[in-house]
Amino acid sequence: MKVFLYIVSCLAILVSNLHAIENAPETGTPLKKALIFGVTGQDGIYLAEFLLDKNYEVHGVKRSDSKKNANCIDMLLGRNSDEKQRFVVHYGDLRDKVNTNNLICTIMPDEVYNLAAQSHVKDSFDVPAYTIDVNGLGVLHILESIRMLNTEKSIRFYQASTSELFGKVHEIPQTELTPFYPRSPYGVAKLCAHWISINYREAYNVFSCNGILFNHESPLRDETFVTRKITLAASRYKYGLQDILYIGNLNAKRDWGYAKDYVEVMWLMLQQSTPEDYVIATGINHTVREFIEQAYKYIGVDIKWYESDQNEYGIDTKTGKVIVAVKPEFFRPTEVDVVLGNAEKARNSLKWMPKTSFNELLQIMMESDLKKISKEIER
Ligand code: NAP
Ligand code: GDD
Repeated sequence: MKVFLYIVSCLAILVSNLHAIENAPETGTPLKKALIFGVTGQDGIYLAEFLLDKNYEVHGVKRSDSKKNANCIDMLLGRNSDEKQRFVVHYGDLRDKVNTNNLICTIMPDEVYNLAAQSHVKDSFDVPAYTIDVNGLGVLHILESIRMLNTEKSIRFYQASTSELFGKVHEIPQTELTPFYPRSPYGVAKLCAHWISINYREAYNVFSCNGILFNHESPLRDETFVTRKITLAASRYKYGLQDILYIGNLNAKRDWGYAKDYVEVMWLMLQQSTPEDYVIATGINHTVREFIEQAYKYIGVDIKWYESDQNEYGIDTKTGKVIVAVKPEFFRPTEVDVVLGNAEKARNSLKWMPKTSFNELLQIMMESDLKKISKEIER
């Protein structure tokens, strides 16, 4: 009976501690240390912000010549006060294994998030060796550092895996069990990273999780990705700064979610008792054409489409002018035509669901870009 009571009281203390960690205020001694590779990217900024709100000490790695999201990095640095240096930026490059090893060795984080990558699928056809170097071997450098430093038990690792692994899809929707068939050097490099994370988990007990994330967007999305290219073009059209949006494959279908919703689940994966891989998606997909229609509708413009494939174009029904035109140079040598994710495992095990709908995402991005363009005009 005594033993039973002792176990019950230990469990009660454990549960109350877990609760305290979850609800910890933003002040006081940081709870945990996180190291984020790729902190200047869209996800890196949102994740750093999310972890700082959870009272983490956050170390972000950026390349010395990166100008990306510089104002966001400054904003995060601004959250430091003299007594509280909770956001620290380090220079690094995933191709340099000495650098990676030194960072992990000196910081000794509790959690490592690898978001760094040459993340442009189309560019990966132009720089395939570089892409495989960063996105594939770079991940091995992190895992090998964790192993060599004997930190398999103390460091948890998140790898930014991707729906691009499914490529030429074997089934719709895709789950964690769907076979992979990547369609670009980017996808192939990410497949290597995905499997090496699993291998280090099985061979050396590294706590490594692959988040197989489907497309996620935001106002911080780089302008070369299709959603941001569209919201910027529609905003410039509204202010008379851009007549035509030149675009590639209008028929491609993507399962688009909101980046802010997706960084939470990266953290959730590392809080579980066992390391596993999860598909993260909304379960709804749209064509690029639909995204364009909705973005222009947001500024009160209806589009009528003519012709098809590489000759397709869209006109503004009010003015009769061409405002969208397909250009073959934006097509890829091999395309991922349709992706659609089934995030049931994350819903059941992590209690995670996307909060933001497609229309809400579009509204967030349009509002932000309309504001950005109108400010540029004022200057
Ligand atoms: P992103 O905005 O392109 O950010 C990529 C980050 O990686 C940037 O901070 C970039 O730094 C850094 N980086 C590039 N090459 C590097 C190198 N050699 N060494 C160190 N850092 C390097 O990408 P994201 O949208 O935030 O995505 C984050 C991760 O998730 C990426 O790995 C991406 O492949 C993956 N992913 C993204 C999505 C999505 O829809 N967003 C979906 C699935 C998976 P610079 O500022 O120097 O360029
Ligand atoms: N970028 C771009 N530019 N894409 C275009 C264009 C264009 O002008 N026109 C049509 N597309 C089509 C592409 O052919 C693709 O089918 C789709 O729009 C989405 O392209 P991107 O926005 O470039 O994203 P992605 O799906 O190739 O890759 C992104 O999502 C992956 C997750 O599935 C990246 O963030 C990857 O890093 C990520 O892994």
